[in-house]
Amino acid sequence: MEIKVLDKTFVPFISEERIQTRLKEIAQQIQKDMNDEVPVFIGVLNGSFMVISDLVKHYKGACEMSFVKMASYIGTQSTNQVNQLLGLDIDVTDRTVVIIEDIVDTGNTLVALKKLFDQHRPKEVKICTLCLKPEAYTKDIPLDYVAFEIENKFIVGYGMDYDKHGRNLPEIYQIKE
Ligand code: IMP
Ligand code: MG
Repeated sequence: MEIKVLDKTFVPFISEERIQTRLKEIAQQIQKDMNDEVPVFIGVLNGSFMVISDLVKHYKGACEMSFVKMASYIGTQSTNQVNQLLGLDIDVTDRTVVIIEDIVDTGNTLVALKKLFDQHRPKEVKICTLCLKPEAYTKDIPLDYVAFEIENKFIVGYGMDYDKHGRNLPEIYQIKE
């Protein structure tokens, strides 16, 4: 069923069930890749709060977690400047960090995150994202775990917002043109 968020109409795109299925698969894959390491999951606020919450529930090994806050979007448009609004409060030196994103679009946020983490000399930084827009992604940072590759259209829900609205939707909707 179509929904309205502020002035725009959205159509159902990825169901709760498909999201959970993929997150479980990815949690298991990360666990395999960790061997004996205890990863530090870093949620990128605000958008990734639902992804990290559900992902760590499927992760059955020992792990730590924390959050950073970045913002690059105004309304439905990406801006080139990425601002850090909340920094790192955990020592990641020599640790394996898994950055959890809601969506990678241009990759500007990822570049800023990589820079931030490299300053702290982690052993390794892996990137996990729920969604990727391959047509928009122009950076060469490799993405280790991608749940859904999607077309280059604006989406909302499951943590992602349109002008601060729609984050609470438990599934993902795509803009109707
Ligand atoms: P990037 O820096 O262009 O890769 O954009 C990254 C951030 O912008 C994501 O983490 C989201 O918070 C936000 N974003 C990108 N595309 C969308 C979208 O289609 N809907 C909602 N938010 C988005
Ligand atoms: Mg985000």
